[in-house]
Amino acid sequence: MITRLAGLARPMLLLMEPERAHETTLRALESGLFSAPAEPDDPRLAVDIWDHRLPNPIGIAAGFDKNGRVPDVLVRIGFGFAEIGTVTPLPQVGNPKPRVFRLIRDRALINRLGFNNAGHIRVKARLAMRERNGVMGVNVGANKDSADRTADYVQGIQTFYDDADYFMVNISSPNTPGLRDLQAPAALDELLGRVMAMRDARADATGQRVPVAVKIAPDVAEADLAPICERLEAHGVDAIAVSNTTLARPPGLDRHVAHEAGGLSGRPLFERATIMLAKVHRLTRGRIPLIGIGGIESGETALAKIEAGATLIQLYTALVYEGPGLIERIKEHLLAAMAAQGAANLAPLVGRRVDEWADRPLPESG
Ligand code: FNR
Repeated sequence: MITRLAGLARPMLLLMEPERAHETTLRALESGLFSAPAEPDDPRLAVDIWDHRLPNPIGIAAGFDKNGRVPDVLVRIGFGFAEIGTVTPLPQVGNPKPRVFRLIRDRALINRLGFNNAGHIRVKARLAMRERNGVMGVNVGANKDSADRTADYVQGIQTFYDDADYFMVNISSPNTPGLRDLQAPAALDELLGRVMAMRDARADATGQRVPVAVKIAPDVAEADLAPICERLEAHGVDAIAVSNTTLARPPGLDRHVAHEAGGLSGRPLFERATIMLAKVHRLTRGRIPLIGIGGIESGETALAKIEAGATLIQLYTALVYEGPGLIERIKEHLLAAMAAQGAANLAPLVGRRVDEWADRPLPESG
């Protein structure tokens, strides 16, 4: 039923200006129009991570629900977990419109939203009204004009500590100038030192240790990956998410849109992000759970991420083109893959093709 309704709505949504289509989708989810519950998941899809049992490994990536309007609805319609944000301390309007562009033939998007969001206070107030039936991560970021960006992340941890089931530290958005400089090892030390100190202080005070994950860019140079992974591991991060959108423009993209500034997501990101995921898995030797993101648009691409080393996966862009029926198709494909391997859960599949992916060179970053 959900799929059928969404199937009718999708061509209409694709005719609308992208941000209007997105707002229409969020309102439909808020209204309950598409929120009939999915069938309970097959228990073989469950993933035990941190102190949670996720019903399945498929999450909605950050940016879809920046202000925490529908995290529980997203879990109800079939996602295994939802990530809200990026949220910054102060509200931000973001960049001038238009700032989201579809590359329909390429099954991709380019966005330069620039962390438009309602800010900590309003998002926190909304989360206070949640039914809280699913696992929700809060993706935290820094205001564009902040004098101390690190302090903005620390404040995010402090503000949402009682709301978040995990935190995602987003240092990889291409749309806030200079933000990605926080990925440099020295900057990472300063950032994670302070972020983890806040997390640890809150954990001591509350008796709850909320995991902290870090999301990296797919445009990190191959030579920088090892020092970055080394710092992330040294600071004890609880997961690494690979990856955010790319500034690269692989050849063959719709030339009417490809020149737009911003981060590219969807199908053309898949290869680069999956190779990088596998390289990070190899560098961290599977000791840190990885979240595979970028270009998941089918059961096959979801399975590829898991086989390249992802314990969890997230997607966004393909939802625009495929609609929510995609979630069910991915689950069926993962169950079939488990059956073919004689696996009782997803664990034996995680990283079983790391070498195939990690041995490949990263495509040129253009
Ligand atoms: C994003 N993404 C994103 N990521 C993030 O950490 N914070 C954010 O606020 C946003 N905002 C955002 C807006 C839009 C319109 C898009 C398309 C994407 C990145 C997103 O979470 C994900 O990492 C990439 O889009 C790659 O996954 P897909 O879209 O290829 O499945």
